[in-house]
Amino acid sequence: MDKEAFSGFYKKEINERQEIFAKEFDLSEEDKKLLTKEGPLPFEIANKMVENVVSTFPLPYGLATNFNIDGKDYIIPFAIEEPSVVAAASNAAKLSSGFETSADDPVMIGQIQVVNVDGAKAKVAVEKAREELLSFATTIDPILVKFGGGPKDITVEVLNDEEGDMLDIHLLVDVRDAMGANAINTMTEKLAPKIEELTGGKVILRIISNLAIYRRAQAKTTWTKESLAASTKGQFKGEDVVDAILNAYRFANATQFRATTHNKGIMNGIDAVVIATGNDFRAIESGAHSFASYEGNYSPLTKYSKDKEGNLVGEIDIPLALGLVGGATKVHPLAQLSIKILGIKTANDLAKIIASVGLAQNFAALRALSTEGIQRGHMRLHAANIATQAGASKEEEQIVAQKMIETGEVNQGKAEEILKTMRTGGSLAS
Ligand code: MEV
Repeated sequence: MDKEAFSGFYKKEINERQEIFAKEFDLSEEDKKLLTKEGPLPFEIANKMVENVVSTFPLPYGLATNFNIDGKDYIIPFAIEEPSVVAAASNAAKLSSGFETSADDPVMIGQIQVVNVDGAKAKVAVEKAREELLSFATTIDPILVKFGGGPKDITVEVLNDEEGDMLDIHLLVDVRDAMGANAINTMTEKLAPKIEELTGGKVILRIISNLAIYRRAQAKTTWTKESLAASTKGQFKGEDVVDAILNAYRFANATQFRATTHNKGIMNGIDAVVIATGNDFRAIESGAHSFASYEGNYSPLTKYSKDKEGNLVGEIDIPLALGLVGGATKVHPLAQLSIKILGIKTANDLAKIIASVGLAQNFAALRALSTEGIQRGHMRLHAANIATQAGASKEEEQIVAQKMIETGEVNQGKAEEILKTMRTGGSLAS
């Protein structure tokens, strides 16, 4: 590969880039076909979304079923590569009594960092000019203000380290149905010269904070003892399942090692819907995990308790900075389809759905882990994947997968051995 062949790559058309890529990496005809095959995201659109595009990268797009949120039924699109996540969420939603939700106003924080200041004096100067700064900020995005959003408050904190004082100015902005990064970043950049003038200091960073503590969504539901007992096909009593899940929750509260995995399970569902709706999953991830440690200890993002009848009550409260009006959500055809099937009108509606999904996903993991274990459910899809990798045809795949599960050996070597036996007419009896 000659790296010079990639100079000015960004200026080329997609087909020229594909040719350079194929030539420099000596791609086979098969590889080239893979690269040039267009899917639901047309190359023309992908090329406007990011730089140096040579193809698109599809993920499975599946539908989670059975969700009833605030009295309304939903089919929820998930974009995810991990087996069992869609099935687990659908099952958790089916067992639940329906989700009740709420969401905060969509207020995001923009941060302005000021250095070379006497912290106390500079703080007073900014606080005194609060009204004036807010009214200036209100003129920056008139459209946002027209739709009921716009700057809401300015707060100031003095930080210090061995280099001296710094101001941490928070501009709070109601960003309505936007994720908010563009509106906030523009406002903080425009405010910066005024802040320098007021404080005599130097503004360094002007950027959104992904710790969206004012923009959270909450969801709550109950899983009755009866539905929990039924879910284990009579293997466990309902009360035992409730207690097992409460013990699993205690474990996440007691150790960060478990809390991290507990929250990972929540994010399995959350990220899948965030991606399917074209939203920024890195922003959601960083915000969620930072919020999980906001009180000091890294903690689970869900809570569980038992009600008077002994049923399991689950709750989630999580920052969700989601948009409906910009970025990939507006241009990605499948993201648009996701929004259409969800039938939502505001970013808050989406946040309520996604919070419910996070709770359902977490419950599903805890229920499986604290009863039969997670592997049984995972195994079928995993085994089918291994069978395909070993060269099984569509017809052979399920037979090979089933055989591997029965023998308790799910790996490529075993799949190849079973395939060979099948194809040579040998006996599959174990
Ligand atoms: C796997 O993707 C997610 C789980 O590990 C979550 C959990 O342990 O709660 C099953």
